[in-house]
Amino acid sequence: MSKLKDARVLVIGGAGFIGGFVVSELLKHDVKEVVIYDNFARGKQDNIEQSLKDPRCSIFPFGGDVRETDILDSAMQGVDYVFHLAAMWLLHCKDFPRTAFDVNIAGTYNVLEACVKNNIKKLISSSSASVYGDAVEVPMTEDHPFNNKNFYGATKIAGEAMATAFNDRYGLEVVSLRYMNVYGPGQDQHAVYSGVVPIMLNKIEAGEQPIINGDGSQAYDFIYVEDVARANVAALEADMKIGNYNVGTEIQTSIKQLCDTILELKESDLEVKYVPYSKDDARALVQNRIGSRQKAEKEINFLYKYSLKEGLTKLIEWRKEVGIDQQ
Ligand SMILES: NC(=O)c1ccc[n+]([C@@H]2O[C@H](COP(=O)([O-])OP(=O)(O)OC[C@H]3O[C@@H](n4cnc5c(N)ncnc54)[C@H](O)[C@@H]3O)[C@@H](O)[C@H]2O)c1
Repeated sequence: MSKLKDARVLVIGGAGFIGGFVVSELLKHDVKEVVIYDNFARGKQDNIEQSLKDPRCSIFPFGGDVRETDILDSAMQGVDYVFHLAAMWLLHCKDFPRTAFDVNIAGTYNVLEACVKNNIKKLISSSSASVYGDAVEVPMTEDHPFNNKNFYGATKIAGEAMATAFNDRYGLEVVSLRYMNVYGPGQDQHAVYSGVVPIMLNKIEAGEQPIINGDGSQAYDFIYVEDVARANVAALEADMKIGNYNVGTEIQTSIKQLCDTILELKESDLEVKYVPYSKDDARALVQNRIGSRQKAEKEINFLYKYSLKEGLTKLIEWRKEVGIDQQ
């Protein structure tokens, strides 16, 4: 039987890009209640509007910050399972490392502590492929060294390490998911790495030349956001009580291939413009990052569903529906 049957679930960071999809994925199951806990620093009402029409779904009314331990604790009362997606993103961590420490590291500690206090049956926590830094080998298995050099990746490594310690010390079940490059509807238009998809689409739909930094051979593992939401549920349903898993497709797509695919789907014959990376462009540091999907497939029964072409087609349809393609 599904663990989600009649379950009460809290989704921290549930109003964000991926969190919104986790919420709607959960509502496809026979859950009793899905409560969104979010401080709306980057979360958007649009991401959860549809889900909130379901009477089982609500926003925690007394606050939603992971730094507010008493409010977080009260949000977990009577809850069975928790999904933790709240975080400051890469560039924000670069500019504000102290706050990144408070939100991503201390905040994750607060989540783990509140889970123990409230006897949460299992926590699914969002980590990142950033823990690996630039790849020394591809595909990267979960044993790949932590070559990360930035504050964001450091906070994710700390989060995973604390999850392991909480499991060892208190028996809390925690699965951490290392997402590769996630793309899909509702994504921030300016996020580095994954932001390349909306940025390219913005250009092409405006009839302007798409821009590629470098020679376009840099390659990543792009995964559609609905697959990431499914991975969260798969991790919950699996028997594994502790572990870290890649969430990707294991398919290497160069930026040039990505651009060509978008041009093909948009039936555009625009010429690509190649420009060098600026001196402090964080993207220049990571040129190759593909995650092995073997461990996730075997241990949490997760396999991606959408090919890049299918995911991009869905994204392009969504952009048309909401009118972004006209802006
Ligand atoms: N998008 C990607 O490609 C990607 C890749 C790897 C990992 N991740 C991780 O996945 C998770 C979700 O990412 P996303 O792309 O949906 O980002 P997002 O910024 O859209 O979502 C994060 C959510 O957390 C909320 N939040 C921020 N600070 C908070 C705080 N102090 N208390 C409570 N809520 C807070 C934001 O308002 C937002 O709704 C994050 O942990 C992120 O690090 C994302």
